[in-house]
Amino acid sequence: MAGVARTGNGAATIPTSAYRAVDRPLREASTLPGPLFRDPAVYEREMERLFRRSWQCLGREDEFPTPGSFRTVEVAGSGVLVLRNRQGQLKAFHNVCRHRGTRLVEEAEGSDLTRLLCPYHAWVYDLDGRLIGTPHMQDAKEFDRADFGLFPVALETWRGFVFVNLARNPEPLEKALGGLPARTANFPLESLRRTHRVVYEIAANWKLVVQNANECYHCPGVHPQLVKITPYRSGEEDLRTGPVFGGWMDFVDGVRSATLSGETKRTPFPGLSAEDLGRVYYYVLYPANFLSLFPDYATFDWFVPMGPERTRLVFDVYVHRDETDPGADAMEFWEMTNRQDWHICEMAHLGSKTAAYFQGRYSSEEDVVHLVDQYYLKRMGLTKKPRRR
Ligand code: FES
Ligand SMILES: [Fe+2]
Repeated sequence: MAGVARTGNGAATIPTSAYRAVDRPLREASTLPGPLFRDPAVYEREMERLFRRSWQCLGREDEFPTPGSFRTVEVAGSGVLVLRNRQGQLKAFHNVCRHRGTRLVEEAEGSDLTRLLCPYHAWVYDLDGRLIGTPHMQDAKEFDRADFGLFPVALETWRGFVFVNLARNPEPLEKALGGLPARTANFPLESLRRTHRVVYEIAANWKLVVQNANECYHCPGVHPQLVKITPYRSGEEDLRTGPVFGGWMDFVDGVRSATLSGETKRTPFPGLSAEDLGRVYYYVLYPANFLSLFPDYATFDWFVPMGPERTRLVFDVYVHRDETDPGADAMEFWEMTNRQDWHICEMAHLGSKTAAYFQGRYSSEEDVVHLVDQYYLKRMGLTKKPRRR
């Protein structure tokens, strides 16, 4: 597939000139070719090159309060089991029995794992993934349980956020986070408490959802309430090279938070500067996460592709752990705004996947989308380094 991506029916190809047309200065560039939004072969390549080789945040350390706490999640088509072991360490494993590959744990989450019993033929693993029970295997020649522990998944944490990476030897998380730690240093991220989680199922390719998070060109038409509190051309994007993209937007004078009223009863996070109190920070950690920081709450998105035409999105709202107001007004505001976004992404998917659409052009308001798309093509091995403007 070097330079050419087959479309779903195998009848047509995307010429390399179409990728080169994206990889041009913004004012001359064309947008991503439509077949990239529907082709199962492209999707499989995205899983291999992006989602199985990137750090993805699935939630927070405090979702695993005690030994035996666990969660099962889907990461790039693989079931992953995250748990806290007896020593109190967080661990992640492929949720796959080493006998005949059965999914070990079906429940989405829980707090009472003492061991992992395969429901099929009762092989047993401990919470460190060691195989400790194998009924009727005494006669198997040269079979050593030590060779059949669960496959580990890399796990690291950053300021309370839990990340996993399916790569065998991934780059350290800190390196992957690039400029994000410095840009978020004022915010007490260790002290966040989750108060809401909503899971959305979006009938659109994941790239449309990520593109949407990287521009406010759509805001006047799609988000009449949002543009009343943060004018769509305000602010600046200060992280532009990937894998982290984003920056801030400014509140209208007198607005204190991203709520329908622009008001809030919550105390601002301790440690914020006067500048921070008048801003919203938005950062995409490509390809799977989106962190939004407001003066008094935070939100976090996890984009989970479930096929070329379906994206699951796990959306969390956090407040400071000492804050008594759980942010129902924040959730209300983002429930409305999210649904506006997912609807327009689904409409974009319906059109861009048809044979009628091939490539469009970028507005000057989409400079970060352009950088993101160039970064995507490079990571996919379809172009060379993304060009800076
Ligand atoms: S598949 Fe797990 S014990 Fe057989
Ligand atoms: Fe939006």
